[in-house]
Amino acid sequence: MEKVSIIGAGSWGSALARILGDNGHQVLLYDTDEKTVEEINQYHTNVAKLPIGMLPLNVQATTDVKKVAEFAEIIILSVPTKVLRTVLNELTKVLTSPKLFVNTSKGLEPDTFLRVSEILDEVLDKKYIKGFVALTGPSHAEEVIRQLPTMICSVSNCHQDAVKIQYLFSNKTYFRVYTGHDLIGSELCSAIKNVYAIASGMLEGLGYGDNARAGLISRALVEMKRIVIAMGGKEETIYGLTGVGDLIVTTTSHHSRNYQAGVKLAQGKDLNETIASMSMVVEGARTAEAIYFAARKYKLETPIIDAVYQIIYEKKAVAKVVKELMNRALKDE
Ligand SMILES: NC(=O)c1ccc[n+]([C@@H]2O[C@H](COP(=O)([O-])OP(=O)(O)OC[C@H]3O[C@@H](n4cnc5c(N)ncnc54)[C@H](O)[C@@H]3O)[C@@H](O)[C@H]2O)c1
Repeated sequence: MEKVSIIGAGSWGSALARILGDNGHQVLLYDTDEKTVEEINQYHTNVAKLPIGMLPLNVQATTDVKKVAEFAEIIILSVPTKVLRTVLNELTKVLTSPKLFVNTSKGLEPDTFLRVSEILDEVLDKKYIKGFVALTGPSHAEEVIRQLPTMICSVSNCHQDAVKIQYLFSNKTYFRVYTGHDLIGSELCSAIKNVYAIASGMLEGLGYGDNARAGLISRALVEMKRIVIAMGGKEETIYGLTGVGDLIVTTTSHHSRNYQAGVKLAQGKDLNETIASMSMVVEGARTAEAIYFAARKYKLETPIIDAVYQIIYEKKAVAKVVKELMNRALKDE
């Protein structure tokens, strides 16, 4: 049995702790929120983030970053991407040995537009990085905490590391992990899909139906393919768990915060008002900005990304933007 550290005791960090605890591993969660840490240690719950479900007794929590750094050789990152650099800067002060980092955060860094593996390389001294794995795919914390069947992917440039994490998380009842090797493609897909989740929520907010959503998903795949290939990823990733799998789960489910944000934007609320009204992360908004500029840089045609960007950052009306999309020049699929 392994010892595992998890940075971030929010919805996803807690759900991951549940899997590892169920698999018999010893887990230490780290979070800056004292109330959450106290609740986990005292009651084995995290009601604000996961109203249903308990954490096993082999899951403990701390607010001490030194303690979590020393606890295990495997460190799981599960904080919103926007605070990742801060977290890594804290870690650099206390790391004394190399670690296998497993990222589960989905998004690009606001301002730098870097992928998480790139942020890690920039912030941490190489001697402390034993390896890097992205654990990603269609997975809502709300379902994992209830032990509902879930399949995701452990992706790394090092196959051995990917397999190690595959076995650490897989169990025979509700969590099955595949391995993958396209780190760039997987990191990009897991970030970009949040933009399409916002777009899908907007369709819901406008009262559109299944036809519009299916059209959105299909055309989103075309855009994702263009972006991933231009930025160095592999086309096959688009058709796997980290691509179409995550895209479907996030564009069709009310569990998705990005989807919920899209519904509110379509109802006329602005971005700040929308984010303020939600207790959890909405990473697609910043990713829309990042990918919009990346698409300009690589000269890619990305009408859906552009539409979401225009609604959020140029304050264009949702219905007007949809009309413009429908009136684009007709073309081959
Ligand atoms: N919720 C899901 O179902 C799910 C599934 C897969 C991946 N993810 C990804 O996991 C990441 C986290 O999402 P979440 O839903 O758990 O968010 P969340 O808002 O529920 O939790 C984030 C946690 O990070 C903590 N935190 C913030 N700043 C911190 C810091 N500087 N140091 C330590 N802890 C800090 C917060 O206190 C909070 O407990 C996101 O990138 C998200 O895309 C989420």
